[in-house]
Amino acid sequence: MDKIKIIGGQPLNGRISISGAKNAALPLMTAGILTEGTLRLEHVPHLTDVRTLGTLLGSLGIDVGYDERPLNGDLGAGDVWTLNGANINSQFAPYDLVSKMRASFWVLGPLLARFGQAKVSLPGGCAIGARPVDLYIKGLQAMGAEIEIDEGYVIAKAPKGGLVGATVRSKMVSVGVTHTLMMAATLANGETVLENSASEPEVKDLADCLIKMGARIEGAGTSTIRIQGVDSLMGATHRVLPDRIEAGSFAMAAAMTGGELTLCGVKHETIESALSVLRACGVHSEVNEDEILIRRNEERLLGTNVVTQVYPGFPTDLQAQFMSLMTTAKGDSDITETIFENRFMHVQELARFGADISLHGDKAIVHGVERLKGAPVMASDLRASAALIIAGLAAEGETTISRVYHLDRGFDRIEEKLSRCGALITREKE
Ligand code: EPZ
Repeated sequence: MDKIKIIGGQPLNGRISISGAKNAALPLMTAGILTEGTLRLEHVPHLTDVRTLGTLLGSLGIDVGYDERPLNGDLGAGDVWTLNGANINSQFAPYDLVSKMRASFWVLGPLLARFGQAKVSLPGGCAIGARPVDLYIKGLQAMGAEIEIDEGYVIAKAPKGGLVGATVRSKMVSVGVTHTLMMAATLANGETVLENSASEPEVKDLADCLIKMGARIEGAGTSTIRIQGVDSLMGATHRVLPDRIEAGSFAMAAAMTGGELTLCGVKHETIESALSVLRACGVHSEVNEDEILIRRNEERLLGTNVVTQVYPGFPTDLQAQFMSLMTTAKGDSDITETIFENRFMHVQELARFGADISLHGDKAIVHGVERLKGAPVMASDLRASAALIIAGLAAEGETTISRVYHLDRGFDRIEEKLSRCGALITREKE
């Protein structure tokens, strides 16, 4: 297994090109199931999660094409994927593929909508909480599906004539449920109204692509989405929106190490909550069209409280990285996690750097220390691995991070991007 080695203490200076968002690319790829035509996706990040989903889609009979961009060019340019769903011959998503990544479960909605049946393994993914699927099941049942769970599989059947439009009010805001029901509703009979739906930018990006494919969707990006079902969808070309979590992670890395970093190709409005928290800590940021400059002067940052919330609140996917940043801030910072109940596994790893953090249920209290010292650490999940990199970049001496396969699931060429800006970071193959 690969390890990442960092010699800390170098400020980050330069420009980083932001890749397409993993959490937009994955649902966009599953939309390829909804059409006989070709869906061409551009600016797709170069990640193992994307390739895992590509394998699953291929196993369903989708003709998957993939054009990888060279490593020496623009590191945020991304790859191009083409998906043709004319010859889908299976509605079965097996355990070995779905258990690797939760988003694989999202093939359920499109398969059911287009073929009237699906058998999909219960999902896996990062170990950050219980992550049940009750809301998916309730939503699809409201649209007429018959669903049973047998031997770890969700087996779903649509009524004769297909799914029927319905009003579904989710008891919790869920990104995946919104993606799934929105896709299912595009081919259902009549109108579906999704209330209390997720308004994350990735949901809007999926809706924009579905609309290009011929879907009739209004309200995506708000908490109520209306979908009028159509008979069929066609192929389309879509560019994946920039990754707000990657951008926020690099902003925190720059804030942690000092220096001046420009993030290029960003939709700044999608990371406003993170920028405003960084401003409160004492980090300078300037937005100029699709670029954000992040600068930190010599002063220590100020400890600042954060509560994770659904969009447009502070994202849970930046909580670990922000905790890293606060480890060396002046004073205490309370970090409350409201989305996932077990997303604090990075706390014990940050302690290896000398961080002082105490856990109280859903709240972590970070008592800022003067400096961190490099250490051997282990990545516990995807975003936690970015938090360890941020800590390692600022810590004195050498850090080695093991289990970096978590990182490769969701950060596109992160070592290359950071080393071009002065970081001393290398990957060691084992
Ligand atoms: C998406 O996961 C993202 N994954 C996550 O990013 C992100 O952390 C999360 O949304 C919240 O923003 C992708 O986009 C691939 P949810 P998702 O359903 O859709 C509960 C990352 O690091 N819930 O919005 O799986 C659930 O347990 C990842 O990139 C139910 O109770 O998250 C959680 O507490 C990790 N029943 C809450 O809803 C259900 O049926 C929100 O989760 C479904 C969800």
